[in-house]
Amino acid sequence: MKVLSTETAALFEIAAVEAARLLQAGEVVAVPTETVYGLAANALNSAAVRKVFEAKGRPNNNPLIVHVASIEMARACVAEWPSRADELARKYWPGPLTLVLRKSPTVPNEVTAGGDTIAIRWPSHPFMQAVIRKCGFPLAAPSANRSNEVSPTNVAHVVASLDGRVPLAVDGGHCQVGIESTVLDVLGNRVLRPGMISADELGATLPTAARGEFLQSPGLLEKHYSPRARVVIGEWQNAQQARELVLRNGGKIEMTRVIAHEQIPADAGFVGVAVIPHDAEAYARALYGELHRCDESGAELILIEKPPAGPDWEGIRDRLRRAAGGHVAGM
Ligand code: TXA
Ligand code: MG
Repeated sequence: MKVLSTETAALFEIAAVEAARLLQAGEVVAVPTETVYGLAANALNSAAVRKVFEAKGRPNNNPLIVHVASIEMARACVAEWPSRADELARKYWPGPLTLVLRKSPTVPNEVTAGGDTIAIRWPSHPFMQAVIRKCGFPLAAPSANRSNEVSPTNVAHVVASLDGRVPLAVDGGHCQVGIESTVLDVLGNRVLRPGMISADELGATLPTAARGEFLQSPGLLEKHYSPRARVVIGEWQNAQQARELVLRNGGKIEMTRVIAHEQIPADAGFVGVAVIPHDAEAYARALYGELHRCDESGAELILIEKPPAGPDWEGIRDRLRRAAGGHVAGM
């Protein structure tokens, strides 16, 4: 897999030209966005879109998000553009909000997994915007990882997951948001996948995981977003309590990595303790990098300190819950 840098204006331009050339030729390219890296293809070319599913090993009943670089481009992908969509787009785009709307017949069925709705967003990453503008067509792009893995937040994660399956990855630095966009069903006014733009802020309903409602969105199976190691989420006041949590869950202290944000269990014999700032935005930005690091280290168990309550953390709680394989008491 070729990796191109965007570090200088000249390299950025070379990478954008090369990415657009491949995309125009019906190839797939891994590109940076502000949320996570995406594996992009021409959304209007069925054969190109099928390559995305192949490269990821993604089941073809899981629809893709279509990325645009203007409201006009979004409108061309939908059958109706309600005033609510226009308001949301003007307020949050470009940014980490995906709108689910009625699909236009011009978008191939492969993109939407045969469904009559389409998920659309206008990403804020300058490279992604430059490539969409150069191509002149929207880009269908799921996260740039093999199906069921943790999404990539830097180009090294992309290479580790997709090397040999994709001709080009573009290095756009570390993703600024760090978890995937909020997915909003505009017509039902419900959040299908929580993210850093909260349901509260959108004035939409947030189905509770306890009611199993997250499964409404075809891709939101609980086993997604999981690292290889087993994840245990809990609370502790000191290192001894953290150790006991691991032992009670059948783990080995010397095979466990800890991700903490408040109570740091020092000198407890863990293989590693990562501390992420106690701030939702900083936490989201760092989380996937830490999960990838845990897997790279060969840890068997990841002990994660329970995140706080409140809407700022709902996207993070959702991803941690999924990483832990489903329901977590009190979360
Ligand atoms: O931040 C993001 O959204 C990243 C970047 C690359 O933009 N993309 C991303 O794509 O996370 P992916 O494919 O990993 O997740 C897309 C999610 C899936 O859960 C999928 O089921 C849901 O969006 N989705 C796509 N189309 C949908 C539709 N028409 N109705 C309901 N859910 C849909
Ligand atoms: Mg994904």
